[in-house]
Amino acid sequence: PTAQAIRHYLQFKDFSAEEYAYLFERAAIIKRRFKNYEKYQPLQDRTLAMIFEKASTRTRVSFEAGMYQMGGSVVHLTTGDSQLGRAEPIEDSARVISRMVDLVMIRTFEQSKIEAFAKHSRVPVINGLTNEYHPCQILADLFTYLEHRAMDRKGAVDLDALRGRVVAWVGDGNNMANTWLQAAEILGFTVHVSTPSGYEIDPRVAGISNTGCYKVFKDPRQACQGADLVTTDVWTSMGYEAENDARRLAFADWCVDAAMMAQAKPDALFMHCLPAHRGEEVSADVIDGPQSVVWDEAENRMHVQKALMEYLQLGRIG
Ligand code: CP
Ligand code: NVA
Repeated sequence: PTAQAIRHYLQFKDFSAEEYAYLFERAAIIKRRFKNYEKYQPLQDRTLAMIFEKASTRTRVSFEAGMYQMGGSVVHLTTGDSQLGRAEPIEDSARVISRMVDLVMIRTFEQSKIEAFAKHSRVPVINGLTNEYHPCQILADLFTYLEHRAMDRKGAVDLDALRGRVVAWVGDGNNMANTWLQAAEILGFTVHVSTPSGYEIDPRVAGISNTGCYKVFKDPRQACQGADLVTTDVWTSMGYEAENDARRLAFADWCVDAAMMAQAKPDALFMHCLPAHRGEEVSADVIDGPQSVVWDEAENRMHVQKALMEYLQLGRIG
């Protein structure tokens, strides 16, 4: 295939609302088959290379198990055990790896690195988290929201159910926050963002074309008012560990606890991409409480990514 013909998934905005509607329909079908132990192996003889330059539990297990379930196989590479850690140029790695596999998932630092890889790749590349974005996670989060709030028994997905909703983002202006903003812009909801000063969202980094999809609040409690979904993330993302002490001080008031959840709508959901730190960004009673859907969120990573891999490999089914 020519470079132009290849679809990558490097940011949430790489796909349209219409493509998301399709992916969520497929994810619902694929999930149902998995739950019923129905074999579904459309990716036989296909190989996924997974490149991890940062640690992972969910991303690794969901992509690896998902690919095997679809009949394919995986190759797992890390910085330490490949030539990536010995300064082989990313462009050369892309040229070589993409001649031998059908699909590549990368978790790395700068977004520019995954973009350089994609530019020289013969096969689709999926962003498994960069400093700037985490699109696969938001894919799972939106599917989880729809599943809880807007999916009928047959799995029909109503994307319009997201229109006009309010998502409260409490915490760091990080890769997750940026990706929420991209999703809000494409799918027509609003993000109420509250970060400590010095950790704000930068709309240019978020990659949104206008700032109408989010509102900034100094006070995290105000950000939660009227929210349909409250979500947060670690105070210190991977790669920023040197800032840990400063962040603990700065983020002390940005803990999603019961008092904060009480500001949101009574039926608001709580989400966290995990791993979580109880007593830091979220209290134990919230994450382990009745409004929390974090385990569904984690499981849904696998179902939505199976739909994503199917789409990038085979195009639309049916
Ligand atoms: N949420 C998420 O991406 O988790 P891992 O870091 O465990 O992959
Ligand atoms: N923002 C976090 C998400 C971890 C899944 C990080 O980048 O480390």
